[in-house]
Amino acid sequence: MNKLFTLSLTSAQALAFAGCTGTSGDTQKSSAQASASSQANAPYAERYRPQFHFTPRENWMNDPNGLVYHNGEYHLFYQYNPHGNKWGHMSWGHAISKDLVHWEELDVALPEDQNYMIFSGSAVVDHYNTSGFGTKDNPPMVAIYTGHKQQPAKGQNQQLAYSLDDGRSWTKYQDNPVLDENMENFRDPKVFWHEPTERWIMVVALSTDYKIAFYSSPNLKDWTFLSHFESPASELGIWECPDLYALPVDGDENKTKWVLEIDLGAGEEGSVAGGSGGLYFVGEFDGKRFTADESTLPEHAEGPHQWVDYGKDFYAAVSWSDIPEEDGRRIWVGWMNNWQYAQELPTTPWRSSQSIPRSLELASYNGGLTMTQEPVKELQMLRKDQREVSNLTLTNETRSLEDWGVHGKALEMTVRFEPGTADTVGLNVRTGNSEKTVIRYNVNDQTLALDRTQSGEVDFHPEFPGVHVAPMPLEGGKVELHLFIDWSSVEVFGNDGAVVISDKIFPEPSSQGVEVFAEGGTATVEQLNAWPLKSIW
Ligand code: FRU
Repeated sequence: MNKLFTLSLTSAQALAFAGCTGTSGDTQKSSAQASASSQANAPYAERYRPQFHFTPRENWMNDPNGLVYHNGEYHLFYQYNPHGNKWGHMSWGHAISKDLVHWEELDVALPEDQNYMIFSGSAVVDHYNTSGFGTKDNPPMVAIYTGHKQQPAKGQNQQLAYSLDDGRSWTKYQDNPVLDENMENFRDPKVFWHEPTERWIMVVALSTDYKIAFYSSPNLKDWTFLSHFESPASELGIWECPDLYALPVDGDENKTKWVLEIDLGAGEEGSVAGGSGGLYFVGEFDGKRFTADESTLPEHAEGPHQWVDYGKDFYAAVSWSDIPEEDGRRIWVGWMNNWQYAQELPTTPWRSSQSIPRSLELASYNGGLTMTQEPVKELQMLRKDQREVSNLTLTNETRSLEDWGVHGKALEMTVRFEPGTADTVGLNVRTGNSEKTVIRYNVNDQTLALDRTQSGEVDFHPEFPGVHVAPMPLEGGKVELHLFIDWSSVEVFGNDGAVVISDKIFPEPSSQGVEVFAEGGTATVEQLNAWPLKSIW
C-alpha cells in the first residue's frame, strides 16, 4: 500500500499542525453553536455539557497527558488551548481528583512559550530522585513532554518540567530539550520505571515514519536509544500517543503479558470506525525491545493488532503512572473525539471531554488474549435509586421503559438479554422527538453496533453520522451490556469489557427515553438495572 496518503492528516489536524493557529477564539459559529450558547446557563449545565465526564470549564481540550497519582491525588493534565475553543496555543491544562470521579480544574500547568508549544507526554513521580530535581524526602513530579517548534524550522523534541509542590507549580528544565533527534514528527513520550533493569524507559512515536522508538535513562535527562517497533498496521495512519505496560493474564499476578498501545491519527483508512482511534499488540518487553506475540491473537482479529474501541470517539488513551501497588490497577482515559471532525463538535464554551476512567486487564477471549476495559468501580458513587426490569418478553416489538422509571440524560445501565428466536435485540437510548441512539446486537452476525445516524444533531460534519460495528461472540447464549449515557456521549461495554464502543451524540435535552427491542422473533430481557447518575459538578 502506498504510504504517501498517511502524510495527509485530517484537514483539521493538518491545518492546526501547519501552524494555522488563528484559534484564539471561535470566529465562525454554526447556528447550532449559536443556539447552544443562547441556551447556555450556569457553567457545567450548558446544552451537551457532560455531567460525569471531565471537561474544562471553557476552551479546547484534546489528549489526556501526564496521568499520575501522587499523595492521594489523581492528576489529569490535558492538551489545552487557554485562549480559544479550537486547537492552538497548546499547553497542559490540569485537573485533580481524589476519587477518579470528581475533578477540580486548576491553573494551566505548562503554558506554551515563545519557542515551543507543549504537546502530549507523561508524568512520573521520581521516587529515588534520580533527576536531582527534588530530594529523597520530597521526590519531584517530573513531566516528560514534546516541545513542538514552528520557528525558525519545524521540529519536535522531548523536554522536562518538574514540580515540588504536588503539581501546583511547574518549572521547565533549563537544559531542555533532553532528547532531540532533529525530527519533525517525534512525539508523545510515555515514560515508566522498569524495575528489572532499574532505569526509566521512554516509548515515543516517530509518527510519520510509522515506528515506535524505545529509549532508556538512569535520570530522565540522558536518554539512550534501545530499539524500534514496526508493524504493517502502520499503513492505516500516522502513529501517536503510545503506551506500554504489563497486565496480569486472567487475573493471575504471576502471569503477565505486555501491551503496546498506539493511536492512529486519521489517514485514508484510519481506525476501525474511520478517522483516528487506537490499536494494540500483546507481547513481551525485555527492557529493550517489544515483540508482538501473534499466537495471542483472538479469532476476530483482522490483522496483527486488535482494536481498542469500535466507536469513533476514543483517542490518545494513556494510563496512570504510580497507582499504589496495593491498588494494582492499570487505569486509563481517552479523549472522546475524532480528528476528522474534532474542531466542529457543536459545543461552547468548551470543546471535547475525556472518557470515563476504565480499568484494564488481559483476558482469555475468543481463542486468544484480549485487553478488557471496565468502568472503574468508583463511578458507582454517582448512582441514584436503582430501577429494575426483569423477565420482560419482547416479540418483534419495541417497548418503552418509561413505566419502570427508566429514562434520563445521565444514566448507567446493565442489561442481560436472552435472544431466544430473535435476530436482533437491543436498546434505543436518548429517545424523543424522532431521535434515538440505537445499540443493536445481531445474533446471526454476532456483532454489536451503535447507530448514531438519528441521534440528534449530526450534520455538523459528514463524517459524524454513522453505524459503528464490533465483532461480539455470543457468550453463554446471553447478550450482556454495560452502558454509560451522558448528556453528549454513550459508552457501551460488552462481554465484560472485551468489546467497547464509545461515541459522542448530540440529542435534544428533552430526548431522555429508553426502549428495548427484539426483531425477527421472541427474546427476553432477563434483567435490566438502571441508575440515574448524579452530576460531578
Ligand atoms: C494526538 C496529538 C499528539 C500531539 C497532540 C497535539 O491527538 O496529535 O500526537 O502531541 O495531539 O495537540
